[in-house]
Amino acid sequence: MKTLYVELGDRRYPIHIGPGLLDQPELLRPHLPGQQVLVISNTTVAPLYLDRVRAALTGLRHEVLILPDGEQYKTLATLDAVFTALLNHRFARDCTLVALGGGVIGDMVGFAAACYQRGVHFVQIPTTLLAQVDSSVGGKTAVNHPLGKNMIGAFYQPGGVLADTDTLGTLPDRELRAGLAEVIKYGLIRDLPFLEWLEANIGHLLARDAAALTEAIERSCRNKAEIVALDERETGERALLNLGHTFGHAIETGMGYGEWLHGEAVAVGMCLAADLSMRLGWLAADGAERVRALLARAGLPLAPPAQLTADDFLRLMAVDKKVKEGQLRLVLLRSLGRATLVSGVDPHILRSTLEDSFQ
Ligand code: NAD
Ligand code: GLY
Repeated sequence: MKTLYVELGDRRYPIHIGPGLLDQPELLRPHLPGQQVLVISNTTVAPLYLDRVRAALTGLRHEVLILPDGEQYKTLATLDAVFTALLNHRFARDCTLVALGGGVIGDMVGFAAACYQRGVHFVQIPTTLLAQVDSSVGGKTAVNHPLGKNMIGAFYQPGGVLADTDTLGTLPDRELRAGLAEVIKYGLIRDLPFLEWLEANIGHLLARDAAALTEAIERSCRNKAEIVALDERETGERALLNLGHTFGHAIETGMGYGEWLHGEAVAVGMCLAADLSMRLGWLAADGAERVRALLARAGLPLAPPAQLTADDFLRLMAVDKKVKEGQLRLVLLRSLGRATLVSGVDPHILRSTLEDSFQ
């Protein structure tokens, strides 16, 4: 097992990464300060892993809430069901919520923990690659709104993250590939050696080689933990973690939540960001081609869905958390391994990048 820390002073917390963690109660117990625990999972993950989490809670008063599975349920209505369960069980302020699942469960449970009685403890047990490399770390919590992805939420850090790499064994291939998009993102924005390692090891990752997956998770979490420690509330560098996301969120919202996976939409977004960076004269043509080639080898889509138009993108992208003083801001690439946040991108170049991107 590897343990990294998100260094946030007295809110410092560990990220444990490795196989068999669900069977080690001593990793979970220190993060459950009170006597009441609510484990929240979904209809897919609970049958696979809930029993092992419950076994780790023997002796504590714990309840379980199973939510429907899917991005389309990442809503205020689902959150309300969590609050109702907490109130029905008379849970007090020293309770702990345990998120067992992918990024949808993690983001919702984190937001519920931020809100219930103005803040209770929570622990992340991420079970998708995407959640293990990104969403479980850093305290961004949210639900979707029909008009915009992740628009209602809070910054609220977990007490700890337990990433049991064995759980990836049951993850569908499509979900594994979606997680690889966020892994590749770290290489592109700030870690060229990691990008080169990914180019050399993408086959091992797709084949679910345990050592390769563990290394990818660890290097991703190391990057994420460093950025979050520097800029927890995204006043600067943390925005770089959104490479491809402004385009990607437009795809997710425009297509209807759950149609495209988050990682798939981000992959297309990163292709668009690379292409735009090239058209602006920053990224060399072979750099943009390397981005596309790696995403293609990871089995990810490179072009947006034909149902959307450039106008749809521009309209949807105007609802983005990085918009400042009415100006769209985009994460673009100065070079491979070096991202930058840019405002005032020439609208003609942005439009032509979008128009040329559809297959
Ligand atoms: P997800 O939570 O929908 O999980 C994907 C699918 O895999 C679901 O059907 C889930 O039930 C299933 N699943 C989960 N673990 C499994 C396992 N071990 N075996 C078999 N099936 C399993 O999607 P995701 O990709 O994990 O997360 C996407 C969400 O994360 C999006 O809502 C996105 O906005 C959010 N996100 C948040 C952050 C953040 O910083 N908070 C970062 C990136 C993404
Ligand atoms: N996934 C973007 C962030 O955590 O900031």
